[in-house]
Amino acid sequence: MKPIAIACDHAALNLKAELMKHLDEKGIEYVDYGTYENKSCNYPDYAEKVCNAIAEGKSELGILVCGTGIGMSMAANKCKGIRAACCTDTFSARFTRLHNDANVLCMGERVIGAGLACDIMDIFISTPFEGGRHQTRVDMVMALEQKRK
Ligand code: RB5
Repeated sequence: MKPIAIACDHAALNLKAELMKHLDEKGIEYVDYGTYENKSCNYPDYAEKVCNAIAEGKSELGILVCGTGIGMSMAANKCKGIRAACCTDTFSARFTRLHNDANVLCMGERVIGAGLACDIMDIFISTPFEGGRHQTRVDMVMALEQKRK
């Protein structure tokens, strides 16, 4: 597996640190695209960095964390080839991989604790896409990118 691309804004520095510690403990490689300090910053900049890493083939999966996870998911879903899912529970994390082939997981430091976030991330990383009828639907979702006016 290619290294996971991970980033946060200033609101989720602690959560990103917990997630990276968890990845270290599991021996899963990642690249940290920032932010690296508490200074207020703009989450779309960091969403774009992770999405670019996926578009360039450096990573297959990305993790984006901010205060709610919502801003990051909105920004990521504007990037070509990205299917970002904002998750607050393990069921959604599992099924967004199985059915949606989500390639970016978004979570909010102000919403969930680090323990749950690590469980969600583990499931997201380890669950494969089911394909089959879901491939058709994912293809339809991606075709919407071309239909935009
Ligand atoms: C930053 O205050 C906050 O707006 C951001 O982290 C995120 O929650 C946006 O969706």
